[in-house]
Amino acid sequence: MSNEFFVNKLLVNKKLKCYNSFKIPLKIEVKGMKDLNKKLKVMYREEQLQEKIKEIAKKIDEDYKGKEVIVISILKGAIFFTVDLVKKMSTPIVLETMQVSSYSGTESTGDIRVKKDLDSNIEGKDVLIVEDIVDSGYTLKFLKEYLISKNPKSLKIAVLMDKKERRKVDVNIDYVCFEIPNKFVVGYGFDVDEKGRNIPYVGYIE
Ligand code: IMP
Ligand code: MG
Repeated sequence: MSNEFFVNKLLVNKKLKCYNSFKIPLKIEVKGMKDLNKKLKVMYREEQLQEKIKEIAKKIDEDYKGKEVIVISILKGAIFFTVDLVKKMSTPIVLETMQVSSYSGTESTGDIRVKKDLDSNIEGKDVLIVEDIVDSGYTLKFLKEYLISKNPKSLKIAVLMDKKERRKVDVNIDYVCFEIPNKFVVGYGFDVDEKGRNIPYVGYIE
């Protein structure tokens, strides 16, 4: 039992459309996260994530028919989503990565900087930013403006999670897998102080 925790009927929000009322083995005992593990509940199981990502991959394929797309995965959180998304796409891609940082503790601010830039020129190319989550919107607004200044032919954004009610600046997101309420998510790329990214499902802290 110590390696399992009980997932109650999901109370978060009807929008989540998932009712995980069964035990899911907590496969990963994250060191230093013992207290957190107790508070962690499942928001989306692996199968739910994959099913939705497949749907979004299909939409992307339809929109980019006959084109090649430069996929920019935003490190580190979006790695997991990016890998699963591009494997489900039939559109040819060129994979790029970028990393940005905002200096503010847990809250993102407008002060965003490029930590790792692109390796290639995106001028005249069709570009898709793949990000884990849009919260205040500062990060994606910054990235959008930064990348538009490099004159791509087109620029779209795909996110796994959208915390719409937290938005502080307006940014148009083209593909959203899940709209979620204001809960801190962990796992499947999402971290708490760099821990928990490899939990295979998305959990939230109660
Ligand atoms: P924004 O600039 O406020 O939209 O912040 C987006 C970034 O904040 C994401 O790339 C994540 O790194 C981080 N973030 C926001 N919400 C969460 C969460 O619930 N769990 C983990 N990271 C989060
Ligand atoms: Mg991030």
